[in-house]
Amino acid sequence: MVTSETALAPLVELRDIGKRFPGVVANHDVNVTIRPGTVHALVGENGAGKSTLMKILYGVQRPDDGTVLVDGTEHAFKSPSDAIAVGIGMVFQHFMLADNLTVLENCVLGAERIHGIAGKARAAFVDLGQRFGFDLDPDALVEDLGVAARQRLEIVKVLYRGAQVIILDEPTAVLVPQEVDQLFTNLRDLRASGHSLLFISHKLDEVLAIADDITVMRRGTTVGEAKPGSVTKRQLAELMVGSELPSPETAESTVQTRMMLSLAGVSLVVGERSVLDGIDLTIHKGEVLGIAGVEGNGQTELVEVIMGMTKPTSGAIVLGDVDVTAMSTRGRREAGIGYIPEDRQRHGLLLDAPLWENRILGHQTQPPNARGPWIDRRGARRDTERIVEQYDVRTPSIDTNARALSGGNQQKLIVGREMSGDPVLLMASHPTRGVDVGAQAAIWDHIRDARKAGLAVLLISADLDELIGLSDTIEVILRGRLVGTFDPTTVTPAELGTAMTGGHD
Ligand SMILES: Nc1ncnc2c1ncn2[C@@H]1O[C@H](COP(=O)(O)OP(=O)(O)O)[C@@H](O)[C@H]1O
Ligand SMILES: [Mg+2]
Repeated sequence: MVTSETALAPLVELRDIGKRFPGVVANHDVNVTIRPGTVHALVGENGAGKSTLMKILYGVQRPDDGTVLVDGTEHAFKSPSDAIAVGIGMVFQHFMLADNLTVLENCVLGAERIHGIAGKARAAFVDLGQRFGFDLDPDALVEDLGVAARQRLEIVKVLYRGAQVIILDEPTAVLVPQEVDQLFTNLRDLRASGHSLLFISHKLDEVLAIADDITVMRRGTTVGEAKPGSVTKRQLAELMVGSELPSPETAESTVQTRMMLSLAGVSLVVGERSVLDGIDLTIHKGEVLGIAGVEGNGQTELVEVIMGMTKPTSGAIVLGDVDVTAMSTRGRREAGIGYIPEDRQRHGLLLDAPLWENRILGHQTQPPNARGPWIDRRGARRDTERIVEQYDVRTPSIDTNARALSGGNQQKLIVGREMSGDPVLLMASHPTRGVDVGAQAAIWDHIRDARKAGLAVLLISADLDELIGLSDTIEVILRGRLVGTFDPTTVTPAELGTAMTGGHD
C-alpha cells in the first residue's frame, strides 16, 4: 500500500542550485521540489533562468553550486545519458529530429540498446502511442510532419527511453489553441500513469489550467511557490515581473487613408508547388494587418517576397507609391521597411558579435551607422546605447556578444534597431515569440506607439491573443491563400483556429 507519506515524498529536488556564465548569474539559490505524478509548472520571464535550471536537471549543464536529488539520492550528472539513466527526459524548445528519417527511426535512434531495432522497437513505439494517446504514424517521414506532430514525437522519444520525469521547455509556444488542448490531454494521461511533468511556460492561463504545483523564478532565483486553486493570474504575473499584468489591447483605430503596402496577385510557385496563390492585400498608414495561420502555410514566403529575398512568380508589390517588385532587399530596407525576422538567431543577429555591431546589421548604409560610404562606429555605438536604454535591453554592456543575452533581450535589441530610422512599414514575424511577459509588453507598447505615429505593420504571429490584441484587421492564410478576413474586436481564438485548419463552422 502506498501511504500518504510515501506518495508525498519528492521525486526530484533541486537544492540551492547556482550556475554562472561569464558576466551572467543564470541561477542562484534555486530550490524546486517535484512530487511524483504531478504537473509542475516553472514560470518566469525570459532570462529568469528556467532553461538553464532544466538543462542542469537533464545533465546538459553542470551546476556550480547546489545538489540534484532524484528519489532522495544525490546525483552529479555528467551528461544527459546519466539523467536518462535515472528516468529524466527533456523536450527542448527547438526540436532535435532528423528530417530525412521516419518517425520510428527518429525514436529508436540512439536508444537501440533499450528495445533493439527491429520488430520489438516498433511494438514498443506503437504501445507507447496507444497507451498515452499520441497520434503518430511510425512510417511517416519527419519532414512531412507539422510542428505538433514533431512535438508528440519528441515526447514519445523521451518515454521510449524510460523517462519518469519529463521536462517540456515552453512546449505551447509553437502550438495553436486546438493543439494545446491535445497536448494537455496527453499530459494529463501521462500524469495519471504516474509520470511527473515539468511544464515551462509564461502563459499563465495555461499554467493555471494544467499545473498541480507552480514555482516562480525571477532574475535567476526561485521567488515563490503557488497552487493554481489559490493564486490569481495577476498575483502570478506580479511575482514574475513585480508589476501588473500587461495586455496587448489596442484601443482606438489609427488607420489612415494612405496606402503603405499593397500586394496584387502575388503568387509563388516552387517546383510544382504553389506556395503563394494570388495574394491581394493592402496595409494603410497606422494600420496593423495580422496574419493568422498554422506554420508552413506560406507566411515565411510571404515575408520573403515582400522583403525581396524571394522573387514572386507573378504579381506586384507596391510600397507607398513605388513599385518595389524588382527592388533588392537592401533597396527595400532603404525605402523604409523595418524587418523583425522569424528566426532571430539565424537572420536577425550575429550571435558572436557585440551588440553595437548588431546595431549595424542590415543598416550598414544608413545613419547613424554610416557617413557617406564609411561605417560610423561612434555613431553606431552611441545609438546602441540609446536602444539599450530606451528598449530596456538588459546587458552588461554594448560590447557584450549577442549570444550572451536572453531571447527577450535579443528581441528587444532587434525591435529597437528595426524601429530606428522611422520605417514606414514594419514586417514583424513572431515579434514576441519566446519572449517573457515584461519584454512582450514593452514590444507591444513600441509597436502601438509607432502605429499611432503612422507606421504600417504586417504582423505574423502564432500567438492568437497577440494577433487579436494588436491588429486592426486579421487575414487567415491557408495553403498559400488568404481564406478569410476577420475583425479582431469580435473574433475569438477558436474561430481563428477553425479557419486556420480549414474547418467550417
Ligand atoms: N550558455 C550560456 N552562456 C552564457 N549565458 C547564458 C547561457 N545560457 C543562458 N545564459 C544566460 O543566463 C540567463 C538565464 O537564461 P535562461 O536559463 O535561458 O532563461 P529562461 O529560460 O528563463 O529564459 C540569461 O541571462 C541568459 O542570457
Ligand atoms: Mg528558456
